[in-house]
Amino acid sequence: AQKVIFDTDPGQDDAVAILTALASPDEIELLGIVTVAGNIPLDLTTRNALKLVELAGRPEVPVYPGCTKPFGRSLVTAEHVHGESGLDGPDLPEPVTKPKETHGVDFLIETVRAHEPGAIRLLCLGPLTNVALAFAKAPDIAKRLKDIVLMGGGYFEGGNITPTAEFNIYVDPEAASAVFRSGAAITVLPLDVTHFMRSTKERIEAFRALGNRSGEAVAAMLSFSERFDVEKYNWEGAPLHDPCVTAFVLKPELFKTRHVNVEIETGSPLTRGMTVVDYWGVTDRDKNAVWVRSGDSDGFFQLLTERIGRLP
Ligand code: BDR
Ligand code: CA
Repeated sequence: AQKVIFDTDPGQDDAVAILTALASPDEIELLGIVTVAGNIPLDLTTRNALKLVELAGRPEVPVYPGCTKPFGRSLVTAEHVHGESGLDGPDLPEPVTKPKETHGVDFLIETVRAHEPGAIRLLCLGPLTNVALAFAKAPDIAKRLKDIVLMGGGYFEGGNITPTAEFNIYVDPEAASAVFRSGAAITVLPLDVTHFMRSTKERIEAFRALGNRSGEAVAAMLSFSERFDVEKYNWEGAPLHDPCVTAFVLKPELFKTRHVNVEIETGSPLTRGMTVVDYWGVTDRDKNAVWVRSGDSDGFFQLLTERIGRLP
């Protein structure tokens, strides 16, 4: 199994990404979950992460709280998408498990250093504040990771919080810029692919029909997050962003990719947080990321449904 750490701000779609990984122990050995402020403040993302490991019957998976806000900016949250708890929809019990006392950034640094180079994959589902701080404190770990697989950005599909910016990058563009310039191997699951992974009624029903607690919870999460996107985009169903990261780790053959240069706009008030992708190779800038352009949405939902069915 591949050794994996999540950095995340759960969030319904983060939740499905994490549950899918917890359901896949043959492929994914989850070393820990680091939380970050994003969709909601840090105390809530941490609480939600604990609810998820308990739902999956895996309370031994440690949860480490990370940064409470970006360093250069005040925090922007998204309760309008995820609800006040960040995980509105299912009725999950208050967690009894406690978060770890070690700071998430220190856990990240220590764990990557304690393993062989290339042993660990870092899966990022929120703003990149923790990762940028870890790389600032310990620049050696950027290249010691096997890679980073992250949900963020958009090029062909534009943005979802401004016309040009996707939420995770927008919240902490300085952090994102530092990560893209760190020399780490990076794969990006942008809106260009996630916008096409939409939870239709039938797909939500398939989770509910699994008949387990986790399937019920996922169906409730997706029914909740659907509300917002259906109104906003006039789509049937909401895009399932973060689970694309787990699906990419489990089944990369579901996706089409291209090696490109990605730079992050940090200065302009108009385009703050834009992922500027040299998709057509019109510059000689270094290719610093693999950009996922599209994916097989039926294969994606089949994979997720089958995995969630393995949980309690
Ligand atoms: C991203 O923003 C968050 O609201 C979601 O959890 C996802 O990580 C999509 O833009
Ligand atoms: Ca997220």
